[in-house]
Amino acid sequence: MTRTTQPIGIFDSGIGGTSIWKEIHDLLPFEDTLYLSDSKNAPYGNKTKDEIIALAIKNTEFLLERNSKIIVVACNTATTNAIKVLRQKYSVPFIGIEPAIKPAALRTKTNTVGILATKGTLNSELFEKTSSNLSSSPIIIEQIGEGLVDLIENGKIDSEEMNTLLSKYLKPMISANADHIVLGCTHYPYLKDQIKSIVGASVNIIDSGNAVAIQTKNILSEHNLLVTGTRTPINQFLINKNKTVLTKILSDYSSRINIEEVDF
Ligand code: DGL
Repeated sequence: MTRTTQPIGIFDSGIGGTSIWKEIHDLLPFEDTLYLSDSKNAPYGNKTKDEIIALAIKNTEFLLERNSKIIVVACNTATTNAIKVLRQKYSVPFIGIEPAIKPAALRTKTNTVGILATKGTLNSELFEKTSSNLSSSPIIIEQIGEGLVDLIENGKIDSEEMNTLLSKYLKPMISANADHIVLGCTHYPYLKDQIKSIVGASVNIIDSGNAVAIQTKNILSEHNLLVTGTRTPINQFLINKNKTVLTKILSDYSSRINIEEVDF
């Protein structure tokens, strides 16, 4: 029988999914978590669907071997390409993340929404289905964030290269009058400050992090798997590359977490 104190397993192609881990940990501070950063294989966004599925299976098996009670696929690219297969293959509950185009489509006043995501996400059937089944029909400007994940993985969040790429990707959205920009990759919340300074304060920037944390809580509750009461949790991070950048982006949480370099 699954016990409530087993960890919430979370994986991403790299360090970006920590933006989701933070939301989950802030909402469920007494839960154990086990985060897998597959930085060695990042970015997933330019890989084929079969390659992404194979990596998602590898990560899931690793987390299940370490007793995860639920798996959070903290990666839009892995969710949109592989979550169907994962749900068919394993009985544990899965939480996925998809770009928040539905709320953006509902809220836009200019009927124009920009979305920044990986090639793998934008080309996926799931994204195609979600964007063609919206109740309204806004103009959606899709932009592949080529190069952004690599720069973040290499610790170049605040760099001139990053600013140049972001300006190139976002300015056409603003010229087209987009009033909402959807961050369709879990790495991109780390770019919010730069994005804001490029697009201006009147443009809304949305991501799905908080919604994923709420959904995780709801599904754990449905399965009677939520930790009850207060306890000191174990928050373990495993990375298959150098941990310097991961350590830096989690520095606010350093007293509560443990980060280890492991080959997987
Ligand atoms: N964090 C992943 C996502 O949400 C990045 C994908 C990649 O590795 O290209 O899509």
